[in-house]
Amino acid sequence: MTRLSDREYRAMNSGLRRFLQRRYEFPLLRRMGVTFTGKDVLEIGCGSGYAAHLILLDAPKSYVGVDVMPEQLALARRRGLAAEFRLEDATHLASVPSASIDLVVVFGILHHIPEWRGAVAECRRVLRPGGEIYIEEPDGGALGWFDSIFGWGHPREARFWLRALYAELESSGFEQLGRTWAFGFGFYRGRTARAAPPF
Ligand SMILES: C[S@@+](CC[C@H](N)C(=O)[O-])C[C@H]1O[C@@H](n2cnc3c(N)ncnc32)[C@H](O)[C@@H]1O
Repeated sequence: MTRLSDREYRAMNSGLRRFLQRRYEFPLLRRMGVTFTGKDVLEIGCGSGYAAHLILLDAPKSYVGVDVMPEQLALARRRGLAAEFRLEDATHLASVPSASIDLVVVFGILHHIPEWRGAVAECRRVLRPGGEIYIEEPDGGALGWFDSIFGWGHPREARFWLRALYAELESSGFEQLGRTWAFGFGFYRGRTARAAPPF
């Protein structure tokens, strides 16, 4: 499990972060065809629940957010949303049954997890056949640049190139539905392509 540094924690809970998520990231994911209405949605690394607030405006069937920082979950619960927030590690989603989720969303958390491949496998496990995943992640190069400027102190052992992430998604059984790149970040939409492997 990896906690955020104090600097990144403040940045992630700032008005600028919410502005970017609302005005840039959500319009982008909509242009990529991601929809929430009527779906069972899981967000890993849900942070303070701002994305949950935006997702719930679209009336999903259910929403569960997991995070490893209790203080993030406390902020999320304080929003009073019709949502469940759980203290859980994305590499071991013990409370989420296999093939129970329609859409998994990942807003920039895999680069905090040295065992990020395990988190991808868990996302695959919990998705129904035909379920979708939406991921935003920085490329390893951009992350190094970020850390040298802002001193956010991401764990080096969790740093990966986007091409490694996309290769992992493909070998885990995801079919790519769309992908784009901006400001050192990759934005990916995929769907489970095959029957789930036996776990
Ligand atoms: C960079 S923040 C992003 C927060 C939020 N998704 C956003 O876009 O503002 C990464 C979040 O992932 C959480 N996190 C880190 N490692 C995790 C893990 N192994 N399992 C679940 N959450 C994790 C952190 O506590 C933090 O809230």
